[in-house]
Amino acid sequence: MQVGIDQISFFSPNYYIDMVDLAMAREQDPNKYLIGIGQTQQAVIPPTQDAVTMAANAAESILTDTDREQLDLIIFATESGVDNSKSAAAYLQRLLGIQSYARTIEIKQACYAGTYGLMQARDYVELNPNKKVLVVASDIARYGLGTSGEVTQGGGAVAMLVTANPRIMTLERDNQFMTKEVMDFWRPVYATEARVDGKFSNDVYQSFFVELWDRYRHITGKDINDFKAFVFHLPYTKLGLKGLRKILPEADEAKQSSLLEQFEASRVDNKNIGNLYTGSLYLSLLSLLNHSHDLIAGDRIGLFSYGSGAEGEFYSGIIQENYQEALVTDQMENILSNRTKLSILEYETMFNSALMGADDRQLDGTKDPAKYILTGLREERRQYEQH
Ligand code: HMG
Repeated sequence: MQVGIDQISFFSPNYYIDMVDLAMAREQDPNKYLIGIGQTQQAVIPPTQDAVTMAANAAESILTDTDREQLDLIIFATESGVDNSKSAAAYLQRLLGIQSYARTIEIKQACYAGTYGLMQARDYVELNPNKKVLVVASDIARYGLGTSGEVTQGGGAVAMLVTANPRIMTLERDNQFMTKEVMDFWRPVYATEARVDGKFSNDVYQSFFVELWDRYRHITGKDINDFKAFVFHLPYTKLGLKGLRKILPEADEAKQSSLLEQFEASRVDNKNIGNLYTGSLYLSLLSLLNHSHDLIAGDRIGLFSYGSGAEGEFYSGIIQENYQEALVTDQMENILSNRTKLSILEYETMFNSALMGADDRQLDGTKDPAKYILTGLREERRQYEQH
């Protein structure tokens, strides 16, 4: 029996900034952001969205009434949790109307947690083939105004349904993973913005990829020619390209250009959204599924997951027959075409108005068209509503 991703869905809120505008405001050459970093636009998260609402908005499109009655495991991966004790998955269970006899759990390991959640889901379904698991990866990447990390902000959520005989991609049992305790990126419990050693984090990311790929080849006997495409965790899209370039010399010229073409497909959507931390790898997978012209059933995709701190994993998945029919129709096109562009001043104001602190606050949800929104804080209880 094969187990894997049966459905995948994405959400990001209805505001963005243009990277040329940000470059001008920060007195940088726009090509540094567009080419050097590889980002075109960046999602801006209004105060009425958080990790919980974004996850609910992503999952809504792929859950049927039967799923809501039958799901008994919800795994919520995030490093933008809204509570140090209560699981974001418990909020999700109520908002999505998932039956009560379900397990709900929130997990954290920087940008790696979504992959761990997916593998837990795979193992659970292998033991219980008639079950489905909902895995969500939802985050807001916040570094701070005027910081060098600002160009790599963004946010959104990816939701995946893991089942037996999946329609999109099976998850192979070839995972190679590793952990090394390093301080490349972190966010202390008292901080709302990430701390980062930017250049060091790039180096650790690339060295993890090379080491895991070498280990993968050694253990499985597979090589670069066994893969149709490689998708990467993309904190910014240039970094995935740097990773891919490390292994391209192992392929002949024709294979190199084919892999580069697939990589371009896998970063189209990430360029317009930015980093969504633990969901970024799966947004890149979705981008590949939506934009590649020649994926066919049986193609092997390599996935590199990286979470600072640091943990990495490389594994593969196999594309399924007619996978296109299982994708949510025109989802990304609708999200992008319904977004409003903010000036840098408007973005800065929105950035500073995020819901922080313990004081009661009522938020204006009338400008947020998403189904699930955060309407404020009352007696230190977050107030969620659905339109
Ligand atoms: P920076 O110092 O502003 O940028 O920081 P830079 O000077 O290194 O330039 C960036 C690139 O632009 C360079 O290319 C320049 O040459 C190029 P590279 O040498 O790297 O190939 N460049 C230009 N290109 C074309 N035209 C020009 C031009 N000018 C310069 N005119 C940095 C960049 C990414 C370090 C910063 O934004 C940052 O710290 N970001 C946050 C950290 C991050 O994203 N790290 C990634 C690895 S860690 C990770 O993936 C985990 C994470 O997702 C968190 C988690 O796990 O939870 C972050």
